[in-house]
Amino acid sequence: MREYQIAAIGGDGIGTEVVEEGIRVIQAIANRYNAFKIEVSTFPWGTDYYLKYGEMMAPDGLEVLKKFDAIYFGSAGDPRVPDHISLWGLRLEICQSFDQYANVRPSRLLPGISSPLQNVTSKDIDWIIVRENTEGEYAGAGGRVHKGHPEEVGMDVSVFTRTGVKRIQKFALDLARSRKAKKLTLVTKSNAQRHGMVLWDDIFDEVSADYTDVEIDRMLVDAMTTRMVLHPASIDVVVATNLHADILSDLAAALSGSMGIAPTANLNPEEKFPSMFEPIHGSAFDIMGKGIANPIGAFWSASMMLDQLGERRAAKQLMTAIERFTREGKSFPFDLGGDGKTRDVTDRIIEIIDGQNH
Ligand code: IPM
Ligand code: MG
Repeated sequence: MREYQIAAIGGDGIGTEVVEEGIRVIQAIANRYNAFKIEVSTFPWGTDYYLKYGEMMAPDGLEVLKKFDAIYFGSAGDPRVPDHISLWGLRLEICQSFDQYANVRPSRLLPGISSPLQNVTSKDIDWIIVRENTEGEYAGAGGRVHKGHPEEVGMDVSVFTRTGVKRIQKFALDLARSRKAKKLTLVTKSNAQRHGMVLWDDIFDEVSADYTDVEIDRMLVDAMTTRMVLHPASIDVVVATNLHADILSDLAAALSGSMGIAPTANLNPEEKFPSMFEPIHGSAFDIMGKGIANPIGAFWSASMMLDQLGERRAAKQLMTAIERFTREGKSFPFDLGGDGKTRDVTDRIIEIIDGQNH
């Protein structure tokens, strides 16, 4: 039987709560289809670990993680430690060290969920935002001088490389090609940022020339926000820089019903390193420990993980179970207007999985 080794890192806040439930769902799917086994190892890394040991993960953390088939992640961020420390010490460290350059963020209005936009149906919002995930505004280049003095300076320098831009654009074009609509929108801000963003435009001219079957267009990031709100059905796949796609994907999640639903895959497409899967909602400290977090983003991320592992059928069945749950509209968590607890959502989805036909 096929067997996969998964590293689970709950991290901070509701991250640990939803990852725990996600593991239950993954095991339910594995048992139901009896075609593969999932072995999960859990790592207690995150802010509690940092407060004890001064590091967000064990010193040999990356070496340990490298041996796994995939990483299932919750969230990083805790009010007791500045965000840039918790993030750079764990999630960003993993993304950059494992060259997970393709951050894939699907947004779909699932059945039974309503969008804050009026008269919008599931057909109108079916997007994938492809986020460059290793450089750009998140390269970590910059510095601070004259700390505390009136002449203090802080600089964050965006780094765009030909290799980095080309590979993410190609990835997005391939993804667009594999979809029914076959459309890709390049998002930049090349009217104002005249170096790196123009490099994105130039490389897009070159790379997209090989994809005449993909319908391409270009938007400035500010105009893209209005298009998402006013003409959602015109969008299919979007490719953008690390920061632009970060912002657009929050908007996309809100427009498709809730931040609690949206998933992410941090992919190393060449599979030299494990890829990492996580809900995009973050640690949400205000609701931590109450057992009310929406686990659907974590479940959808688990489905993306199964897909990446090659278990396409199981990935689809999990998505079908999630959609059946949202269509039913029972035990919705608070962010979707119900009073279902995290566990109620999981229990119902597992019931659905157990009752699914092969
Ligand atoms: C996301 C998050 C992170 C990001 C934060 C927590 C650093 O907003 O995954 O979208 O910006 O990458
Ligand atoms: Mg974000």
